Amino acid sequence: MTRLRTLTPLLRPASFPTSAKALATSTALFNKGVVAPDKEPFSVYIHWPYCSSKCTYCNFNKYVDPNVDNERMERALVTELKSELVHWGLDQGNRPIRSVYFGGGTPSLARPRMFKLVLDTLSSMCALTKDTEISMEGNPSSTTSIEALKALRDIGINRYSLGIQSFQEHILTELGRDHTPSTALKSLLDARTVWPGKVSMDLIMGHAGQTLDDWIKELRFTMDIVDDHLSLYQLTVEPGTALHTDVKQGKMTLPDGDLSTDMYEATIQLTREVGFEHYEVSNFARNKAYSMHNSGHWIGIDYLGIGPGAHGRVSHPHTRQKFRTFNVRDPAGWMRECEEQGTGRRKTDAIELEDSKRELLVLGMRTRRGIDLDRFYQLTGQGLLEFLNKDATAWCIDAGLLQLSAASLSPTERGMAVADELSVRLLP
Ligand SMILES: C[S@@+](CC[C@H](N)C(=O)[O-])C[C@H]1O[C@@H](n2cnc3c(N)ncnc32)[C@H](O)[C@@H]1O
Ligand code: SF4
Repeated sequence: MTRLRTLTPLLRPASFPTSAKALATSTALFNKGVVAPDKEPFSVYIHWPYCSSKCTYCNFNKYVDPNVDNERMERALVTELKSELVHWGLDQGNRPIRSVYFGGGTPSLARPRMFKLVLDTLSSMCALTKDTEISMEGNPSSTTSIEALKALRDIGINRYSLGIQSFQEHILTELGRDHTPSTALKSLLDARTVWPGKVSMDLIMGHAGQTLDDWIKELRFTMDIVDDHLSLYQLTVEPGTALHTDVKQGKMTLPDGDLSTDMYEATIQLTREVGFEHYEVSNFARNKAYSMHNSGHWIGIDYLGIGPGAHGRVSHPHTRQKFRTFNVRDPAGWMRECEEQGTGRRKTDAIELEDSKRELLVLGMRTRRGIDLDRFYQLTGQGLLEFLNKDATAWCIDAGLLQLSAASLSPTERGMAVADELSVRLLP
């Protein structure tokens, strides 16, 4: 078993009860695995594909377009949302909405009208409550006024995820970010005023030439200003990016595995000192400010993927067979499909039961909460311990990488640091 080499970037996924109490009760029961499948909460992911510029490291489905047709995009999003809710039987009012997540691209570049249209559609076809988590991603360069943030809060956004990446000028320049450290700081402080306790920020570590000391200094500064949630990613070289070209041509060298491991360990220690819980490989929260949306993804909650390139994981309303859905990626093609067919969904694949088991294992081993035994049985019809390689499970428990209780199998902090390798070992 090797030590951690990389922090894998967050897998971004993406609900309506009749009342807030119904949502709280059904979510709690659901997490214990005792809710009937036709009453399970679900989530909604909305993809806004536009950015003002391209960051050197990013291979998300994003486009720089100076002439975005906002009205057409908004209409297409609402059209697809309505058709998909009906197609998957999610407009029947029996399944509460757990979370709505506006991701991108850069959703903070969209007009406030886009958020309002989507949320109005959801509340007319399902039922939004004050407890449904409604998050959006934002960039510092497009959220320059506190009034703009308040307008988003007044429309219904109740959690804000700000992409800061770094507070160092030279790193921001190298990443191709279109904001300065001071703009980022102002955006964060404004967002904390508007959504106290509900602001998350993204930071990236492991830049070319970054030392352990540089990273610790950046983290210490961050700990003084951070709200209650932090996503920390290791810079990953993705194909098709400018960073990939630079690394391939030898113009740039990223920190090696040992330095990355040291940075990761320093991160866990420093965040713990100020009360953060390391609840997933890349995610830290205090005061229980976990992301409901992402947590739902990790425990197998259905989510509807809306927008160009969005993907989803949804159950057939009658057979309960799970499907993975994939949307047309380019915005023009996706809008055309929505206009002509009512949806930009281009592929719908049945998820084999064995794939569901593997996904629950891989995502569960990345979380401190691990895998709920009842939940695993409910979703797959097989006991988790029956599914896993028994010798490997016993070995990992003896080695202090896994913990088994009557309710769950979870990685220890050491186990989570090697989550991907742990999953591979545990597979039958
Ligand atoms: C799709 S971005 C959306 C957020 C927003 N557009 C922004 O850039 O601030 C989500 C997050 O993924 C992370 N990310 C994207 N590509 C990455 C990479 N190659 N390596 C590490 N983190 C990455 C960044 O931290 C980014 O904030
Ligand atoms: S990191 Fe965010 S702002 Fe930068 S290109 Fe990717 S989606 Fe756009």
